[in-house]
Amino acid sequence: MSSVKSKPRIALLGTGVVGSAFVSRWLRLRERGVAVTELALLVNSRVALECRADAAASLQTARAAQGVAKLRDDALRAGDILVDATASEAVAQRHAAWLQHGVHVVTANKLGIGADLQRANEIRDASEKSGVHYGDSATVGAGLPLIRSIRELARGGDRIHRVEGVLSGSLAWLFNHYDGMRAFSGFVRQAREAGYTEPDPRIDLSGEDVRRKLLILARAAGLPLQAQDIEVNSLVPPSLASLPLDAVDAQLEQLDAPLHAHFAEAYKNGGQKLRFLGRFDGEGKASVGIAALPADHPLCGGSGTDNKVAIFSDRYDVNPLVIQGPGAGAEVTAAALLDDVLRVV
Ligand code: HSE
Repeated sequence: MSSVKSKPRIALLGTGVVGSAFVSRWLRLRERGVAVTELALLVNSRVALECRADAAASLQTARAAQGVAKLRDDALRAGDILVDATASEAVAQRHAAWLQHGVHVVTANKLGIGADLQRANEIRDASEKSGVHYGDSATVGAGLPLIRSIRELARGGDRIHRVEGVLSGSLAWLFNHYDGMRAFSGFVRQAREAGYTEPDPRIDLSGEDVRRKLLILARAAGLPLQAQDIEVNSLVPPSLASLPLDAVDAQLEQLDAPLHAHFAEAYKNGGQKLRFLGRFDGEGKASVGIAALPADHPLCGGSGTDNKVAIFSDRYDVNPLVIQGPGAGAEVTAAALLDDVLRVV
């Protein structure tokens, strides 16, 4: 990696639904006269190519490419902005090194600060030491001011007592649509096509996605929470969990009977609603799983992919600070990534 300072450029990693929405939004902002940084490199698992004047055409080339590629570190210069629109563990492993070399990282990939605690600390330290930006607002709530609010409360001396709510946009959408009559698996396919789920929908259905988000929020609150501290109740039966990704679609019907049983039980209990909740408290107790709530419960509010999260702290000790809004989808996620890019420049 070169340490020569020159005009910053964007290197976009990932050209799937989020990466493509990022390029579309980048083009729209540029047309509107917003001073967005040059989009210089498009990289996916098959190709790494220089973005030509026609970014939309370059995106099509990258999406259609065959082969295997990896971003070479010498393609990046200090001051560049790397945008991680992948869900890749291998890419997340490199976040800290890029930061150490003076490259800003803006990410929707939660595996940087929402997985291993040591990796999250290395990222924080590298960003502080190098004075470069780690833009993470797309990782939780697709840009809703969740991480930011918790960080600001903690910075202002407030202790976070408890954070709880709906943190999965795809599961919110699923439970807002599932009616107990049509198959749950059909809705899962729709949520995947719409770009609400992770590329592997089991990451959402198993609670792993919410676990990662709780780790990110708890760490933002100053709690060194680790993955194993969180009790996770998965919706994925072991026989579905053990399949390779390309065999999952044909077996999604395995979800239908258990989800129907949850729905019927909740319905029988006075028309309760199913919600998938995550919570942690200031003592480091944390859990993720499905819950049946009375229809008028505050966490039942919201529609579509809405996240709804209550934050209790020293100043919000009786009535929580509540943040609600669309929490999944390519458009909002791409917007959050571009907001972070604009914050860098
Ligand atoms: N799969 C995620 C969700 C996307 O359902 O919330 C946003 O992080």
